[in-house]
Amino acid sequence: MQRIAVLTSGGDAPGMNAAIRAVVRTGIAAGIEVYGVRNGYAGLIADEMIYLDRRDVGNIMQLGGTFLGSARCPEFMTIEGRQRALDHLAARGIEALVVIGGNGSQTGSYELSQMGYPVVGVASTIDNDLEGSDITIGVDTAINVALEAIDRLKVTAASHRRAFLVEVMGRKCGYVALMAGIAGGAEMVVIPEREMSPEQVAHQIKAAYDRGKNHAMVVVAEGAVNNAKKLIDYFAANPGATGFSPRATILGHVQRGALPTASDRLLASRLGEGAVRALLDGKSGVLVGIRDDQIVTTPLAEIVGKQKPLDLRLFDLAQMMAQ
Ligand code: F6P
Repeated sequence: MQRIAVLTSGGDAPGMNAAIRAVVRTGIAAGIEVYGVRNGYAGLIADEMIYLDRRDVGNIMQLGGTFLGSARCPEFMTIEGRQRALDHLAARGIEALVVIGGNGSQTGSYELSQMGYPVVGVASTIDNDLEGSDITIGVDTAINVALEAIDRLKVTAASHRRAFLVEVMGRKCGYVALMAGIAGGAEMVVIPEREMSPEQVAHQIKAAYDRGKNHAMVVVAEGAVNNAKKLIDYFAANPGATGFSPRATILGHVQRGALPTASDRLLASRLGEGAVRALLDGKSGVLVGIRDDQIVTTPLAEIVGKQKPLDLRLFDLAQMMAQ
């Protein structure tokens, strides 16, 4: 193998730069030329690729986002779009592709590998919802951002005897909410994996109030049916339901832009290296992830369209700690 390309796709995740750097430097160490594709699959279709040397990926590991750019690209979901991408790769003599991204992006990897092209995915999403990896690049940083917000809001909540709903990202997965809730000492966590009615949420907050708490922090996953907007609307229509004066903060994209934590940089470095090693071992159509602290590959066919289940023992822990 002489020439490969790397791209970042889908929502940016802190640590993507470290993963690109690892792919480039592992590739060069193995005598392979590495090209970076601009703006995810869109750049593949538009033939926007740049040769990357060791120095081109210097001083980027500590930066959030992705210096290559990322995109969500509906055109890549069409066979014509993918064929155009393959034509550009062939014209440049690029023999394999590394795709750093989450669920949607790895579906793209799978489709491409089904067309006979060697592709290796790297598990990267702040949602941590990918099968095939215990943890994904970016989620540790996102949890820490959520945690900082929770810690700050708790100061105001306690000063004013308020209940705060803090809504965090995660798509249909409650992982970020649950972890930030446990680490932030939340009184409640509302996640899609354990849906609750507004009445149940109000009841639990009121119970905290009745136990003498001077504040209540509720971490809500954006994917919960009763998200922060719905809950705050219910509380407005039912004043007194919680005992506290409730407020809602929706963190949104703030969670994606932080400087990657040490944990995310280390994970990204290991997975990036693992992706090139997988290609050198002749593997393709696989996702590179981490399980029990070992770098592993899983066929993309086994992970696409799935969502990694949440360990609900952690939900029970969150509930018990809140008492
Ligand atoms: O998948 C990462 C993520 O940040 C999700 O948590 C969120 O639901 C989604 O992307 C937001 O997508 P966009 O950045 O396209 O608005």
